Amino acid sequence: MSQAADATTTERARRHPRPAGPPAPEALPLELAELVTDPDTRIVVCCGAGGVGKTTTSAALAMAAAEAGRTVVVLTIDPARRLAQSLGLVELDNEPRRVDLPDSTGARGELHAMMLDMKRTFDDIVVAHSTPERAEQIFENPFYQTLSSSFAGTQEYMAMEKLGQLRAGDRWDLIVVDTPPSRSALDFLDAPNRMSRFLDGTMIRLLTAPSRTGFRIASAGFVFFSRIISKILGGQLLRDISAFVAALDTMFGGFRERATATYELLRRPGTWFVVVATPEPDALREASYFVDRLSTEQMPLAGLVLNRTHPPTTTALSATRADGAAEEVLEAGGEGAELAAGALRVHAERMALATREQHLADRFTSAHPEVAVRTVPAAAGDVHDLDGLRGMADALTGPDGDTPTGVPRRRILPARRR
Ligand SMILES: Nc1ncnc2c1ncn2[C@@H]1O[C@H](COP(=O)(O)OP(=O)(O)O)[C@@H](O)[C@H]1O
Ligand SMILES: [Mg+2]
Repeated sequence: MSQAADATTTERARRHPRPAGPPAPEALPLELAELVTDPDTRIVVCCGAGGVGKTTTSAALAMAAAEAGRTVVVLTIDPARRLAQSLGLVELDNEPRRVDLPDSTGARGELHAMMLDMKRTFDDIVVAHSTPERAEQIFENPFYQTLSSSFAGTQEYMAMEKLGQLRAGDRWDLIVVDTPPSRSALDFLDAPNRMSRFLDGTMIRLLTAPSRTGFRIASAGFVFFSRIISKILGGQLLRDISAFVAALDTMFGGFRERATATYELLRRPGTWFVVVATPEPDALREASYFVDRLSTEQMPLAGLVLNRTHPPTTTALSATRADGAAEEVLEAGGEGAELAAGALRVHAERMALATREQHLADRFTSAHPEVAVRTVPAAAGDVHDLDGLRGMADALTGPDGDTPTGVPRRRILPARRR
């Protein structure tokens, strides 16, 4: 869209914040308090584009469930430093640690938090599934070192592994899972399969085990292909891979089995996905993909958290009237005129922003009328301590009635009168 056209659209939105025509469908309310306190809810997975508030939402939902009396663990992937500190996650130890909740939160249950250490999780799998000597061999292998710390998808896969481990212990009433900041939110669902395909991939076996029958019967074309690969990757790397594959041989079946088990776990009753987005086109587009994908995979979607919205303090005064009033005040002049006009302009801008955000939210709901929505207004600053999380938990799970500003929490602006 050209800038001029964009300006016209914005201007139109300002003049007609509630355009005539068919009203946008009202989104269903997303009852997160009910969701996280229901004894049948055992796993909640928060997913969405990067930077939208997945980690914060995960921690806040876990806190709300703990306050309601449940024993909860939140598996965070990449908590911001200050949030990690406030949760007591000062070092990566790959095990849950109890969070000291202040009395003011009235917690009756327990909140535990952990930060995923992807390499440690991978190492633990190796230790659990091989002899000590073999594990040593694998750990020393440069290819393993690269794979366990940087292979695209390893983090996603390990998050799923860890989820499987946590769920197996049956220690937790509820596990809340944060997802990695993938380039695409979908990586998370694909990881278990991609990883197991990679690890027990026939091609790798053929490429790296020249003594095996597979290679001997391979066609001339394949031999040529593998020489090229060898040239590109380098002989040493191929030998590393070869040794790695040989050492890991006994674990292949295990990887696929666990990947399948975790995938099934995600589809079991008791697991719910919460998609998080901000009221921005890119984030909502990603949320849309995710909603469709979950539905294709028959994974249970609880709803959408529309995070960091900007509801205006009052909707009694439209953007147009506020702008008009600002001009009148300035024309009249006198003491305080500038200040009053400034306040009116700020209000006009907030109304325009809220209108834009509501428009995006309506568009999402038109495309996915079945998806329940909860909006969470932007807090004044970052959410980086327990107080901030408490506020976030309230905004997520408090009653979805009218807020003091008259804006129901599932809308940014009040619903249109019909
Ligand atoms: N409702 C909110 N109000 C204000 N800041 C928020 C809110 N939700 C998240 N944030 C901030 O936004 C940043 C990104 O949030 P985070 O949860 O780390 O996103 P993600 O895990 O999706 O990448 C953090 O600095 C966090 O404190
Ligand atoms: Mg995060």
